[in-house]
Amino acid sequence: MLKLPGLIDPHVHVREPGATHKEDWDTVTQAALAGGVTAILAMPNTKPPIFDDATFDLAIKAASQKARCDYGQYVGAGPDNADIAASLAPKAAGLKMYLDSTFGELRLDDMQLWMPHFQKFPKSAPMVMHSESRTMAAAILFSAIYDHPVHIAHVSLKEEILLIKAAKEKGIKVTCEVCPHHLFLSKEDIPAISHGHPGRGEVRPRLATKEDVDNLWINLDVIDCFATDHAPHTLEEKDGENPPPGFPGLETMLPLLLTAASEGRLTIDQIVQKLYENPRRIFNLPEQPNTYIEVDENATYEIKASEGFTRCGWTPFEGWKVKGRVQKVVLRGKTAFEDGKVLAEAGSGKNVRK
Ligand code: DOR
Ligand code: ZN
Repeated sequence: MLKLPGLIDPHVHVREPGATHKEDWDTVTQAALAGGVTAILAMPNTKPPIFDDATFDLAIKAASQKARCDYGQYVGAGPDNADIAASLAPKAAGLKMYLDSTFGELRLDDMQLWMPHFQKFPKSAPMVMHSESRTMAAAILFSAIYDHPVHIAHVSLKEEILLIKAAKEKGIKVTCEVCPHHLFLSKEDIPAISHGHPGRGEVRPRLATKEDVDNLWINLDVIDCFATDHAPHTLEEKDGENPPPGFPGLETMLPLLLTAASEGRLTIDQIVQKLYENPRRIFNLPEQPNTYIEVDENATYEIKASEGFTRCGWTPFEGWKVKGRVQKVVLRGKTAFEDGKVLAEAGSGKNVRK
């Protein structure tokens, strides 16, 4: 049995408030524990979006009643909430800015709307950017101009990882995360994921080319964090008229990475760095005392959505053979997950900012 720290996922879409038929604070934290994750940071593109005190409290209230692992909640950057967002900073996981097209209403196209957030959001608190390609270059330029750290979400392209590398070499305060689906899937896998339903392959950022995927692996040292971007939508929605983009990922991330480790593609130390040490530092997260996970590195099995805890009921990795299973999760001295069963109670999760 391999003992690792409880993992931190800085990018999770919980769907509560507003879309609990996809997922809620209970099911998402069960999925987290099953994946060896003991703290999640929740994105603000809910319904309503989290962008002021009232909506923030709505999410936190649901989390405090239902969460089975620890959690933080992002506040979203809107067109006119820079003061309010900055005032929420001590309570929030960070500020999330949507600069590119995605699911939900929080997109900021005009760069003048970015400026007050860069001016007002505390420099000690993380600003997380959904910014792809040239928009990402603009976000990095803003970081340099305003001397404000930024964390680039879900990097997927060769051009992006190379620019982040160059920005870091210049001393710009940029960090980044990469999702398992951009490390293990390319656009060539879309037919296999889709089973005749092209909506299942939809995700933002889109699955990229093999060359992009290869360059994420080549530049593993530039990647600060792994993050799932767990974005549950039901199969009915994915197969319907306007398929929403997004993949679930909490339960498959660690098994996929352990499988890659068993193949010599990365080390266990790199997994711990990118799923514990770096996210803890970048997002100023408190220690979770007496918290660890146990994984059976040699257990081989097939990924099956039917065995998962997420409410969305599917995975793009259906049928993949993996090596490495989460056996046990201990959170603050209590066994929270063991032998495939969630034991932590609803409401036992703690807010990382309290
Ligand atoms: O694929 C995605 N789904 N990308 C995003 O940026 C948002 C997410 C969602 O909330 O469904
Ligand atoms: Zn996301």
